[in-house]
Amino acid sequence: MNQNSELRVDGDYRGVNSALSERTGLRGVAVVGLGYWGPNWIRNLNQLQRAERLVACDLDRERRERIGNMFPGVELSSSLDDVIEDPDIEGVVVATPVGTHYPIARQLLEAGKSVLVEKPLATSVAQGEDLVRVARRNRAVLMVGHTFEYSAPVLKLAEVIATGEIGEIFYISSTRANLGLFQRDVNVAWDLATHDISIILMLMGRTPEAVSCQGRSHYREGVEDVAMLELHFSGNVIAFIHVSWLDPNKIRRTTIVGSRKMLVYDDTDLHEKVRIYDKGVSVQRYYDTYADFQLSYRYGDVHSPRVEETEPLHVECEHFIDCIEHGQEPRTDGLVGIRVVSVLEAANQSLQNGGTLVPVVRPSID
Ligand SMILES: NC(=O)c1ccc[n+]([C@@H]2O[C@H](COP(=O)([O-])OP(=O)(O)OC[C@H]3O[C@@H](n4cnc5c(N)ncnc54)[C@H](O)[C@@H]3O)[C@@H](O)[C@H]2O)c1
Repeated sequence: MNQNSELRVDGDYRGVNSALSERTGLRGVAVVGLGYWGPNWIRNLNQLQRAERLVACDLDRERRERIGNMFPGVELSSSLDDVIEDPDIEGVVVATPVGTHYPIARQLLEAGKSVLVEKPLATSVAQGEDLVRVARRNRAVLMVGHTFEYSAPVLKLAEVIATGEIGEIFYISSTRANLGLFQRDVNVAWDLATHDISIILMLMGRTPEAVSCQGRSHYREGVEDVAMLELHFSGNVIAFIHVSWLDPNKIRRTTIVGSRKMLVYDDTDLHEKVRIYDKGVSVQRYYDTYADFQLSYRYGDVHSPRVEETEPLHVECEHFIDCIEHGQEPRTDGLVGIRVVSVLEAANQSLQNGGTLVPVVRPSID
């Protein structure tokens, strides 16, 4: 933690610079993009107090003023170039529209800044690979904002699966739907399914071999507002992802069906986000004729493990700062980001070809 935080006076971060000799925090961090999501980064970074200066950057004056009113101690900037040229700024969060992630992150990395790019990392695998190369060349941290990989319920799912309690995974089914927050530059798959893909890849510990995707646009031509993806994994595992900006209900639910037990993660449930169902199907081991073949269903207990709730963004924020301070590779590094983009890229191709199965391209770097 910043040793000098008690010296800080709102509105003047530079004023305490003379007393920095004992600090363990960073000189400065910045957030570029103060639209819907960026202010959450500002709030968390401001709370953490692990950098002497916090700069909030947006092209839009109203967005900057809003942040200025909410967080008087935060410096405001209208220019990405000023952030790039500021020698104090060691880490930058990029929370701009998806299509701008690559050019903005690349410039920052070339300037030697460590960068956290909001999800998805980029709009193509080639762009993602380029970002990883530039980050490595400049010895900068590159992290992707896969928020759910830092969320306690998702980590609990991973923990339960790792114990073998649910057995072999048969399939995963995920729905993320609600009414609204249409994005301008990307379709609903690039916006919402990114979360499900990152969760599923983390839980499966591997990338699917092929993907198919169907979708339709109803309000903006060429920008699908509803989509259904199928992720085909080795070992006969399939994952279904249904995403929509056009649904009367807010649904955030993932079901994992295993050979022994079943898991349900409902992010809208305030108290029991994760449930383990001791339910399943048993096949009679020995039978002589087809008529003897029988399935029996097991309806056992439902258990909801305790999940310690912390804001995922807070955990993600701390991890980013830790990685910069200690020169560590983030849990969700550039390669993790590329794998998710490789699935989205295949999904896009499938969407344009009427839902055909498209192989997922393996990244050419590791
Ligand atoms: N991790 C999550 O749970 C989560 C949730 C929502 C959004 N996001 C991601 O956050 C990012 C932003 O989404 P949003 O909904 O806040 O978008 P938004 O359109 O509301 O905001 C984007 C902001 O970026 C600014 N901007 C664009 N180009 C800029 C530039 N060159 N320099 C400075 N500012 C610039 C715009 O003026 C705008 O204020 C997207 O990548 C999105 O996928 C992540």
